[in-house]
Amino acid sequence: MAKEESPFKADVVKGKVCLITGGGSGIGFEISTQFGKHGASVAIMGRRKQVLDAAVSSLHSLGINAVGFEGDVRKQEDARRVVESTVKHFGCLDILVNAAAGNFLVSAEDLSPNGFRTVIDIDSVGTFTMCHEALKYLKKGGHGRNSSRGGSILNITATLHYTASWYQIHVAAAKAAVDSITRNLALEWGTDYDIRVNGIAPGPIGDTPGMSKLVPDEIKSKTREVMPLYKIGEKWDIAMAALYLVSDAGELL
Ligand code: HXC
Repeated sequence: MAKEESPFKADVVKGKVCLITGGGSGIGFEISTQFGKHGASVAIMGRRKQVLDAAVSSLHSLGINAVGFEGDVRKQEDARRVVESTVKHFGCLDILVNAAAGNFLVSAEDLSPNGFRTVIDIDSVGTFTMCHEALKYLKKGGHGRNSSRGGSILNITATLHYTASWYQIHVAAAKAAVDSITRNLALEWGTDYDIRVNGIAPGPIGDTPGMSKLVPDEIKSKTREVMPLYKIGEKWDIAMAALYLVSDAGELL
């Protein structure tokens, strides 16, 4: 199968409305594109208007029903406004993807507590805030929902906190918290509201802001050598996993 050829039917998420934070670049943008190509309506949220505008026009050029909303996941009022704008624009909300993240390389010694807090605020608190604001729309019988099931949440993390990583103490702590948020919401909101909450933890993924910011060029070729398949992951791989998890096929989970 050609790499670009999706293993899924083109209508696998047809009619679903999704909101993707950080959906204008990197892995978030690939998820936006693939969800749209497979029939979903896509709202993307980001802080940078230029990035959002470029992403939305690129989605439109593919015939995808997309809209961009400026906002910072660290601000509860932005989270609420963007969730409400998405529902107002498309009529409901079926899927929330938390892909927004902050990152930079710094030693623990040189990282200020405010720098640590900043990344925790974006990744962990931001993810919880978005979930919290989206809850009333995602729950079974929630506003505008035409499905008899609850919606779904997908959180994008990483693998660097499974052990220890140089110069990533803030990100490791933040992503570990997101993994906990995923498990606890899956338990509470799965039981109470029929909302499926899943996470994807990508390893190094090529052609992303994370990779260019965090992995120096001289290490990139070495990274390839230690990967099990001798290659770095692609955004497409993550988008396909995401598609499965939010689709009706993923409801069997
Ligand atoms: C040390 C830094 C720093 C740096 C910011 N800070 N950048 N400290 N080294 N490079 C500190 C500041 O000194 C300050 O602390 C605090 O962080 C807040 O900085 P601000 O610049 O005011 O914050 P803000 O403008 O809100 O920007 C936050 C940001 C964010 C985290 C830098 O803009 C960002 O990273 N954006 C990039 C998004 C991105 O790359 N996304 C892809 C993520 S990839 P003081 O004490 O001075 O006040 C990913 C994958 C992970 O997550 C897995 C990879 C394998």
